[in-house]
Amino acid sequence: MSGSTEEGQKPRWWQDAVIYQVYPRSFADGDGDGVGDLAGLLTRLPYIASLGVDGIWMTPFQPSPQVDQGYDVSDYCGVDPLFGTMAQFDELLAAAHALGLRIFLDVVPNHCSSEHLLFQAAVAAGPGSPERAMFHFAKGRDADTPPNNWQSVFGGRAWSRVNPGSDTDQEWYLHLFSPEQPDWNWRNPAVGDYFEDVLRFWFDKGVDGLRIDVAHALFKADGLPDAANADSVVDGLRSNLHVSDQEEVHEVYRRWRRVADSYSPERVLVGEVNLDPDRAARYTRHDEMHQAFAFAFVKLGWNAAAWAAVGTELEAARREHGAAPTWALENHDIVRSVTRFGGGERGAMRARAGLLAVLGLPGGAYIYQGQELNLPEVDVPLDARVDPMWHRGGVSRDGARIPLPWTVDSGDTFGFSSPGAPAPWLPTPEAWGSRSVEAHLNDSGSTLHLVTTALELRKQLREKEILAADDGGTWRVENGGLLICERGDQFLLAVAMGDDACHLPDGNVVLASSPLTPEGLLPPDAAAWVLRN
Ligand code: GLC
Repeated sequence: MSGSTEEGQKPRWWQDAVIYQVYPRSFADGDGDGVGDLAGLLTRLPYIASLGVDGIWMTPFQPSPQVDQGYDVSDYCGVDPLFGTMAQFDELLAAAHALGLRIFLDVVPNHCSSEHLLFQAAVAAGPGSPERAMFHFAKGRDADTPPNNWQSVFGGRAWSRVNPGSDTDQEWYLHLFSPEQPDWNWRNPAVGDYFEDVLRFWFDKGVDGLRIDVAHALFKADGLPDAANADSVVDGLRSNLHVSDQEEVHEVYRRWRRVADSYSPERVLVGEVNLDPDRAARYTRHDEMHQAFAFAFVKLGWNAAAWAAVGTELEAARREHGAAPTWALENHDIVRSVTRFGGGERGAMRARAGLLAVLGLPGGAYIYQGQELNLPEVDVPLDARVDPMWHRGGVSRDGARIPLPWTVDSGDTFGFSSPGAPAPWLPTPEAWGSRSVEAHLNDSGSTLHLVTTALELRKQLREKEILAADDGGTWRVENGGLLICERGDQFLLAVAMGDDACHLPDGNVVLASSPLTPEGLLPPDAAAWVLRN
């Protein structure tokens, strides 16, 4: 079988789609309140289309108390007034489609907001009620000890008392993230029915796909047993096997796939499945999700052997289960790659090279807003940090979420808000203008130009059938730390990950992230696309 198509079927558009991730509160502020919104995104849609991507993934804009910047959803089928109105969303969807851009939304099925009406009803209804059976409520071991030793991903214990101090209601409720994000009880069939309605609501509107938040976490081990490693804090999901990757979760995605397939054109599911590649691949079997993010390169350093090993493992998973990887080097939860790859000039070169690499690999790819500007992580002043993970667990994701710089001149906000608007919700660094969209547009050697050129070339290579949507890749490392991934017999991707410039295999370099040396070698920290003769 090739790709995730059934034998004999044509490759599908999503198999090698490039999607641009918009974090709405930091993209563009249309109403001048210092927070990005749908109106701002609408005016900037032509910019996204000009990159040459296939679509947009929008992180949550549904009604939410914003404790976890929208990942605490209080109404799955609405628009938070902070971001705009449903009429504006409908306008945005139509405008995106008119520009040839698909729209993916975020669905958050593991937990909701403690202000969700069903959670409020559960709290009010009391112990033993059907309302409480929608969530994980349980009596503690005693008044001060929760039902088990699970830790929250954001730090601290994963349980809170519903009514601290009450003698009649001694129950606790489970929250893998903050206390304001109670976990749904997926063993209750009513939860599955509720989410099918949510999916249909957005698919009926014409939304093209959904990104599924912490998709591997929905089911908890029966009986909620203690975790073996009670000390795990921020790493809660990975080191507590009872809250992740339970077999029952696959039935959810089979059901969601049937829903997605019942629409025309088919709707697409892409999962945040933060598991090792062999386990993550099981979520993309032919009757489950279409894609799951491949985050492997996020965890590895700048190391050709490690990248080749993971690439080979993902290729084996593709052959076994069908779906090609969906690459992501960045998102709103991850330290920007410029900084991860060492910072400064070297980190910037590597981040450019890494981006060109993932755009040349088989499968799909996601670009996080600002990655095309090679933005570094920002060290946000302590008193300006708002991430709940910072307040509970001491890890801040704010530095990857700074409002985007659009213009060179400050005008207070570098074009993010209109002049005179209040300060943006996270402060922008002084030198932000030199990294702005405007600055990149004025520089033919900028990362923004590299991305648009790469995406244009990618399309041409597809049209000429040099690349295919359902390609696989063969990985190897050559002398001096040159990573190679060959797609078919005409195209290869090379990344110089060692300290020396490298000889490239025979062929024409059609694009490179840095100029070749006068001897025609690929310099360290650079990537190249090569067409074989
Ligand atoms: C996902 C989101 C992250 C959020 C968490 C809880 O990992 O990407 O931003 O905090 O889920 O919903």
